[in-house]
Amino acid sequence: MFLQAFPVLVPATVSARVDAAEDCGQVESFSEKPIWSIARDHATVLSVPNTTHRTARIITSLNLKGGVGKTHLCWLIAGVCQERGKRCLVVDLDKQGNISTTLLGDKVAGPGTEAFFNPAVDPQVQAIVRRSHLSHVDAIPGSFALEQFNLTDPTKWDASGLVSSLVDPLREVALLYDYILIDCPADISLITYAALCASDFLLIPLEAAQWGALGTNHVIKTLDHVRRRHNARLRLLGYVVSRYRMVRKYQSTYTNRLREKFGDDAFATAIPDLSLFEQAVTDRVPIVLHSPTSHAARIARSSFDEVESRAERLSGVGDPSGGRGLRQPVVAVA
Ligand SMILES: Nc1ncnc2c1ncn2[C@@H]1O[C@H](COP(=O)(O)OP(=O)(O)OP(=O)(O)O)[C@@H](O)[C@H]1O
Ligand SMILES: [Mg+2]
Repeated sequence: MFLQAFPVLVPATVSARVDAAEDCGQVESFSEKPIWSIARDHATVLSVPNTTHRTARIITSLNLKGGVGKTHLCWLIAGVCQERGKRCLVVDLDKQGNISTTLLGDKVAGPGTEAFFNPAVDPQVQAIVRRSHLSHVDAIPGSFALEQFNLTDPTKWDASGLVSSLVDPLREVALLYDYILIDCPADISLITYAALCASDFLLIPLEAAQWGALGTNHVIKTLDHVRRRHNARLRLLGYVVSRYRMVRKYQSTYTNRLREKFGDDAFATAIPDLSLFEQAVTDRVPIVLHSPTSHAARIARSSFDEVESRAERLSGVGDPSGGRGLRQPVVAVA
C-alpha cells in the first residue's frame, strides 16, 4: 500500500535521511516533520537506486514478567543502530509508551500503533511513522489507545481477524529499515500475539532470579503456536539476562543455571544493572553516544553484535532446532 502509493517518495525518504545523517552518531535537533513530508520536500532533487532498499529484521522483545528490561533492550539496540548508521524503526505496542516518550518526547500525540488494530480504519503506515530526535531512528508510538483493542481472551483472536494486523504494514516499511524493533507489554494478548505473527525473531529478556525466568515457558509455547498457525518464519533469537547485579553472588550462580537451562539460546552478553543506563534513558541519549567509552556502552555494542550475528545465522539455510533457537557453543559470560 505504502510503496505502491508513493513509488518516488519512498526512496527519497531513505536518501534524505541518510544524507541528513551523514554525521551519524549525532543527535539531531528535534524535528516535528514526519518522514514522508521530508520525502516530499526532497522528492524532486533526490533519487536513490533500487540497491539502497533494505529488508529489515523484525524483532519482538517480549516476556510475561514486567520490568525485566524489554523496553531497555530495544532502546540499546536502537542506540547502536544510530551509532553505526543503520536505520531502525521502533514500534511501541506498550500502552505505557515509555520508549515512545524517550524517542519522541511529547510529540507522541496523534495516531499510533493502535491504528493497526482498529477495524474501523485502514491504517496508512506513512501517516503514523514519526522521526525521532535520532537521525537513524523512527518510531510509531504506543499509548493507552491500544487498550481498547487488546483482547486478552485467545478464543476471540481469530474471529477478530486482527492477529495479522501488523504483517502487511511492517512488510511495507521493512524496505526502509535495517531493524524493526517491536516493544511489547508484559502479557500474551492479541497485541503481543500479532507482534509475533509479524516478526522474524523473538528476543526474551529476563532477570537472573527465579521469578525472572518463570514467564518464559508460556512465551515459548506462544512462539510454537504462532509458528504452527501463522508465521513459520518466526525464530527464537535468544534469552538475554538483563538487569544483572554483578555484586550479588546468587545472581551469578543463577545466571550460570539459566545458561545450563537455555543452553545455546542464552546470549553470551548479560546486561548489568547500571545507573549509567538509567542516566542515558533520562537524558534521552543512547548510551553509546552518552558515554561512548564506558563499560555500559561496550555492553550495548556487544548485545547488538550478538543480535546481528544470531539473526544472520538463523536467517541462513536450515535451522536444525526447528526455529526454537541456535545450537552453537555458549561463549563466556560478559
Ligand atoms: N540494565 C539496566 N540498568 C539499569 N536500569 C535498567 C536496566 N534495564 C532496565 N532498566 C530500567 O529499569 C526499568 C524497567 O526496565 P524496562 O522498562 O526496560 O522493563 P520492561 O520489561 O520493559 O518493563 P514493562 O514490563 O513495564 O514494560 C526502567 O526504568 C529502565 O530504565
Ligand atoms: Mg516495557
